[in-house]
Amino acid sequence: MLRSLLPFFFALDLCAQGIPLAEYASRREALRKALPDGVVVMWALQPPPDISDRNGQFQEPYFYYMSGWTQANAALLLCAACPDELKEVIFLPKRNERKEIFEGHQVAAADVDAKAKTGFRTVMSIEKLESTLRRALEDGERVYTLFDLRETGLAKIAPLREIKDIRMPINRLRVKKSPAELELLQGAVDASVAAHLESWTMTKPGLHEYEVATGMLQTYLSKGCERSAYPPIVGSGPNSVVLHYFANKRRMDAGDVMVLDVAGECSAYAADITRTIPVNGKWTARQKQVYLMVLGAQEAVMAAAKPGVMLKDLTKVARDYFNKQGNGPNGKPWGTYFTHGVGHHIGLDVHDPFDPELPLGEGAVITVEPGLYVPEENIGVRIEDMVLITKDGAKLLTAALPRDPDEIERRMKH
Ligand code: GLY
Ligand code: MN
Ligand code: MN
Repeated sequence: MLRSLLPFFFALDLCAQGIPLAEYASRREALRKALPDGVVVMWALQPPPDISDRNGQFQEPYFYYMSGWTQANAALLLCAACPDELKEVIFLPKRNERKEIFEGHQVAAADVDAKAKTGFRTVMSIEKLESTLRRALEDGERVYTLFDLRETGLAKIAPLREIKDIRMPINRLRVKKSPAELELLQGAVDASVAAHLESWTMTKPGLHEYEVATGMLQTYLSKGCERSAYPPIVGSGPNSVVLHYFANKRRMDAGDVMVLDVAGECSAYAADITRTIPVNGKWTARQKQVYLMVLGAQEAVMAAAKPGVMLKDLTKVARDYFNKQGNGPNGKPWGTYFTHGVGHHIGLDVHDPFDPELPLGEGAVITVEPGLYVPEENIGVRIEDMVLITKDGAKLLTAALPRDPDEIERRMKH
């Protein structure tokens, strides 16, 4: 039964929703330019025959970024120094009628429209990969691939070549979001903001955390998102201090705060948004005091975020801000209650890869998510927003979701 659902888990449209194939071609051109002596070989998802029933199948994100291709068992080759027909090749598996009964129509190299459908200059059958790679190696010196088990196979084909990891050169492209990517990210943000607003109208003492999680999930799925960007974290009272609390089982009480770190993935792009709210719609003085410190730290980080700044420096901005607020209940500075980094890149992956040696640049999208976690008082507060790094600062993408604690109280009155 479950197997018959597979086509729904695996995005059916053959090119990425919303991103023109020409944009993928220009990404490949940029990668070839960055690696003038390299031959890049990458494999798409190679699903084992039967274990996809539980979670579905998702395209390998680096392969997806370079191709927009959603079907499994493909491969690609890029070679800057090669003749035109080998500059960029996608290799597709042969047509398999049995597989198509389960998964729907699959594009194959023999199809007359294979080039138009893939956007690649050259489309070949996957069996041609080895011989084509050997030809490409006549012109390219180094081999770049995603490091995993298949590199051993590459080492047999090219025993005298240096084999390098392709991740970092692609990371340097992935950090700068294109206008089309920003539009998709904004779509994921808008659907997730709607989910948070829904949670504020639902939440009341006596409800279970999973009921709120369900209401949020329903909201972003109903707006076209395909799944959660990460498992929803809905932690009330003592669970509010657990950073990655996924159980969502507790019945919430009046007087609890609740951390809602919940967002959708829409058209393959992730959102990541956290709000902390009082379960009964009214902050205690202590909860509000902690909340305002976190909000102040977030404002300080957003004001400091701009091109040229390192992510780790932004974490220091937040910690310094907290430390200036005096001491928490253990007599140690408030900064000791801030137990994680202040943000990360976001895009196709909720924790999008980046080059840690490089500072932020224009076009990067990051989260800004300071938090204070006080287990002694069952108070955890995290506020997480997404910002776009602009020419000289940062633009808030999640501005439609209030952060002001009084505004949250007003919105929760119903
Ligand atoms: N939701 C995971 C994170 O905030 O990084
Ligand atoms: Mn995050
Ligand atoms: Mn988060």
